[in-house]
Amino acid sequence: MVRLKIFRYDPGLSIGPYYEEVFVPKTENMRVLDALNLAYETMKHGSLAHRWFCGTKKCGECAISVNGKPVLACWEAVSDDMTCEPLSNFPIIRDLVVDTENYERDVIMKLRPWMERRSVPLFPEKVGHEKMRAAHALSKCIECNVCSAAIPVEGVTPARVKYAAGVGTAALVRFTRFLLDPRDETDRRQLAKAEGMRPFPKFAVLRGVCPQGINILDQAILPANRVLFPSEAEGDVEDGGEPAIFIRASHWSAFVRLEARVRSALIEAGVLSRVAIPTLSEAYDLIESFEVGPEKSSGVAAPL
Ligand code: SF4
Ligand code: FES
Repeated sequence: MVRLKIFRYDPGLSIGPYYEEVFVPKTENMRVLDALNLAYETMKHGSLAHRWFCGTKKCGECAISVNGKPVLACWEAVSDDMTCEPLSNFPIIRDLVVDTENYERDVIMKLRPWMERRSVPLFPEKVGHEKMRAAHALSKCIECNVCSAAIPVEGVTPARVKYAAGVGTAALVRFTRFLLDPRDETDRRQLAKAEGMRPFPKFAVLRGVCPQGINILDQAILPANRVLFPSEAEGDVEDGGEPAIFIRASHWSAFVRLEARVRSALIEAGVLSRVAIPTLSEAYDLIESFEVGPEKSSGVAAPL
């Protein structure tokens, strides 16, 4: 049997969050998604919210956290004991479903993740394999947001989660795919400046987290930093594997990965206050309005 401990929460209701324990029979080659679908059938009210579409690592819809690690549920093999939670760093809609639409619209699309040409190229256009290799590697991205959930964010505000370097990992990967494409003629240095991008932190955990096999640190972050921020491109690689804590603000709630220094600064400033929620080891309420600390030193970002 597989034991699932499934996070249940509807932010619109006063009850919860809580975990529901479900046992399902284990089968050969079983994936986490198979177990969740079986669990859905056996749950009392049949009300579990979880998202998936293709079942074959193509659409990126099924990303959740299993035992603290962001994965694609349709691809990850089951283990005997699994805690299933919504993807970290994104607001929870219900149970295992998070809202990635705002991130897509407000961050990713502003970085113009498409190719722009000033003139119509000759057809067929010959581009050497070597020149396309770097961009091609990143074009495997299925936009699952697993990588954005794997690393600490910069901070939190009453309005939102502030993603690493102002954009988060998935947006950086899609931006870099075109930054490294010799055919693209967008002034991406200017665009990065206009959108307030900063040197992307170098987290080792990004070397192995992408289900599509992209080595995000070496194939996206380091090349992007070298082009956009050459003076700060090199330097130490941090681990980045902070556990996620549950944060409840008035307009959103989410599991959020915060660096220990950022969390301490927020607690010290009275912005985060610990709340006792049974079964959650660390849960905090985010105060609605607060004094803004210096962004660099405290990681507390300005509210919108
Ligand atoms: S880079 Fe990989 S982990 Fe990140 S969004 Fe794309 S496919 Fe998902
Ligand atoms: S259901 Fe499409 S990637 Fe998992």
